[in-house]
Amino acid sequence: MDLSITVNGIKFPNPFLLGSGPPGTNARVIAKSFDAGWGGAVAKTVSLESSKVVNVVPRYGKLRSRNNGEVIGFENIELISDRPIEVWLEEFRQIKKDYPDHVLIASIMEEYDKGRWQELTRVVQDTGVDAFELNFSCPHGMTERKMGSEMGEHSDLTEEVTGWVTEVAKIPVWAKMTPNITNIKEPASAAVRGGANGISAINTILSVIGVNLDTLRPMPTVEGYTVPGGYSSQAVKPIALRMVSQLALSLPKETSISGIGGIETAHDVIEFMLLGASTVQICTGVMLKGVKMVDELQEGLAKFMTEKGFNSVQEIVGKSLPYFSTHMELVSRMKEAKRHKAGEASRDNEWAQKDITEKTAELTSN
Ligand SMILES: Cc1cc2nc3c(=O)[nH]c(=O)nc-3n(C[C@H](O)[C@H](O)[C@H](O)COP(=O)(O)O)c2cc1C
Repeated sequence: MDLSITVNGIKFPNPFLLGSGPPGTNARVIAKSFDAGWGGAVAKTVSLESSKVVNVVPRYGKLRSRNNGEVIGFENIELISDRPIEVWLEEFRQIKKDYPDHVLIASIMEEYDKGRWQELTRVVQDTGVDAFELNFSCPHGMTERKMGSEMGEHSDLTEEVTGWVTEVAKIPVWAKMTPNITNIKEPASAAVRGGANGISAINTILSVIGVNLDTLRPMPTVEGYTVPGGYSSQAVKPIALRMVSQLALSLPKETSISGIGGIETAHDVIEFMLLGASTVQICTGVMLKGVKMVDELQEGLAKFMTEKGFNSVQEIVGKSLPYFSTHMELVSRMKEAKRHKAGEASRDNEWAQKDITEKTAELTSN
């Protein structure tokens, strides 16, 4: 089945992209993923001076299900790419030469300096990449140099820096949002005012994954100490879905959305698309399950389309958005449906300590 979709004038063979991070950390791993069936990749974020990027070990931490040990949450304190820009430029060229029909998106980040941002944009653009993703969202480490989410948390900076890039970019520009903000619509519309063609959401959520009760040290522990890091994987999906739907309901129709956060299955992909994403990105899922996970994504999306009668991936995008409402309207809909008694029969007064778990189950929809 044809799973292709055209976004900002770029034809994606399918909507599945590697998210910026370890899955796109060099040309070898990107090529392997393209061979495995991924439609595109957002490479690991690059900057002009990799020597300033020094990573720590360990830099990941997992939250596991109490029942079966499955990883449901993941924290990282990893920085952007520590590989020299010259190496990346060569690899971007090579990937586009070997895989002209796959979509290669360069994620870029720089300090608050117009000359540096524009230089980075120019040199990367010259390699033939298909689009840019501006990393305004890495929530740790880079912020100490006023980079990443330091920009995405301030809409005036988001607009200004996006404008610097779009002034020289001849290819589409997506801006990647941080969720560590009260109202995601503000930096997203600032990026659109700066000329962004698309919004990627979300980057990771600031977190502390746990504390070791033997050593009393918070994790991940580096020489006895830690810093709060970025939270990803299954547990963040509801927050990402909420933010993607808010963006889709508020941004201009022509602004594309790339949905990110906790995606592991075709089911997750379809949810993001129904709420307005035209592509999706997967980072932690690939780190935990490997690139072959794309087989299930392709099969699952094709099966869903056949079962529901969708003729193209584009038709799915935003299909569930009309069903967001307000609380007042939900109450009046229940009244119209003569179901208001259901609301009254579960008033707070009737909760009793002994049946709290039953009451919870009674009021749960899935
Ligand atoms: C180890 C790790 C490294 C990451 N590095 C980057 C990065 O360099 N640039 C970036 O924009 N996002 C980076 N991210 C964020 C992911 O691209 C993604 O936005 C986030 O993890 C949520 O998606 P997921 O649940 O599929 O991982 C990184 C995430 C992880 C887990």
